[in-house]
Amino acid sequence: MDQLPIFLTLRGQRCLVVGGGEVAERKVRQLLAAHAAVTVNSPQLAGGLQELLAAKRIEAVLSPFDAGLIDTHLLVYAATSDTAVNRAVAAAAHQALRLCNIVDDPTHSSFISPSIVDRSPLLIAVSSGGRAPVLARMLRQQLERWLPLRLGELAAWAGQWRETIKTRLPDIAARRRFWEQAFSGTLGAQVLAGRTQAADTALHSALDAQAQADASRTHGEAWLVGAGPGDPELLSLRGFHLLQHADVVLHDRLVAPELLAFARRDAELIDVGKTGGGPGASQAAINELLLEKVRAGKRVCRLKGGDPYVFGRGSEEAAALAQAGLPFQVIPGITAANGCGAYAGIPLTHRGLAQAVTFVTGHAAAEATAGEPDWAALAALGQTLVIYMSGRKLAAIAAELIARGRGSQTPAAVVIAGTLPEQRIISGTLADIAARSAEAGIGSPALLYVGEVVGLAGQLGWQTPASTAARPNLELRPGDLQ
Ligand SMILES: C[S@@+](CC[C@H](N)C(=O)[O-])C[C@H]1O[C@@H](n2cnc3c(N)ncnc32)[C@H](O)[C@@H]1O
Repeated sequence: MDQLPIFLTLRGQRCLVVGGGEVAERKVRQLLAAHAAVTVNSPQLAGGLQELLAAKRIEAVLSPFDAGLIDTHLLVYAATSDTAVNRAVAAAAHQALRLCNIVDDPTHSSFISPSIVDRSPLLIAVSSGGRAPVLARMLRQQLERWLPLRLGELAAWAGQWRETIKTRLPDIAARRRFWEQAFSGTLGAQVLAGRTQAADTALHSALDAQAQADASRTHGEAWLVGAGPGDPELLSLRGFHLLQHADVVLHDRLVAPELLAFARRDAELIDVGKTGGGPGASQAAINELLLEKVRAGKRVCRLKGGDPYVFGRGSEEAAALAQAGLPFQVIPGITAANGCGAYAGIPLTHRGLAQAVTFVTGHAAAEATAGEPDWAALAALGQTLVIYMSGRKLAAIAAELIARGRGSQTPAAVVIAGTLPEQRIISGTLADIAARSAEAGIGSPALLYVGEVVGLAGQLGWQTPASTAARPNLELRPGDLQ
């Protein structure tokens, strides 16, 4: 972070603007909006500034830059059209330890003016540190469109009730829950619709309800959330919402790190992907931790790669919660077979090529840990096989399938790091996919696809590093540039 964003309270504080033109006037008006006491220093004043002077809203020193003024002012703006004068102002301010902004010269400024979304008392400041002002402006425009006009009224309304709520709900977590519900539920909607009186009345009953619920609450809740196969944008909206509200986030190794930034700043983040001596050894510890946190009254987001109920042991965690009588929700995620197939151009079914799809784990298929797999069924024609955790067992799996009658020339592909910018696809047939993968270096995580649909990847594949970079994350449109 090159700059520290702060919001200054300028009411009654003396601020100096050096310059008398339109640019200076814009700065003066911003300062006046923040109730600062403004002095303008310039030999001449443009029309707007003259009017402000006549209305006694500003003071003026009608002379060339007077360095003696700096000492008596908190903030200094240099807004003349003369670079030498602006730099002299900056040098004098710097020497006197005053914060100074030179218009359009971030390098010589000690602070910059951000783009502002003003829903007072709610303020949002956007800055690119002077590097991409157009981008900052586009982002501000997005926020302007997205944020309700009455959001400031909602913030002001909450401010009026703050002390009352603090007294009624002394517990900080209870207060947080109350406000979260108030802002996202009926109370917030009423204020945003301009029905403040109705909201005031409803607030009292909401407070009573919350106090009662808190008194009877003995534990928190667990949310088993599928985070998708890798691309962080594949998280569901509900998963996103719950992640933002969690007190504790227990996350897996395969969860996109970017997703963790959506958790609350004060949420406890625990990487359970690294605990224990392996997934088998650590599962009991994960279950125990989950129960412990929920029993302690926490809202726990258990963020799992892909879908929690597809080879994710989510059902074991849910069973532990159910047995302990603790509440939980399960939010599905996009499983790797779906996500990687979509990004690699491999549909799971396709008219005339595959009428069924089977997900199987390489562990079960090659080691028969869950009983000997029904190889004949897995080798049946007209279906797509997606094999998770196939890893180094590719050759054994391919041999079994061929032995049970699946043609050796059946298309097969290994998708590595699917849906991520570094996604790789190794294509071949059942006969040679193991050798090709060994040659290319397989990496992890990886999925094996077998079936005629794999042949469509050449035509339907679209994911490249360039397409990932081109994703319109900010939903910026050409019109935003105008
Ligand atoms: C323990 S399983 C978890 C599966 C997860 N619950 C799901 O629904 O996708 C992990 C396996 O999923 C597959 N996998 C997960 N993410 C992947 C990705 N981005 N690319 C390729 N395979 C992936 C790999 O086979 C990996 O070994």
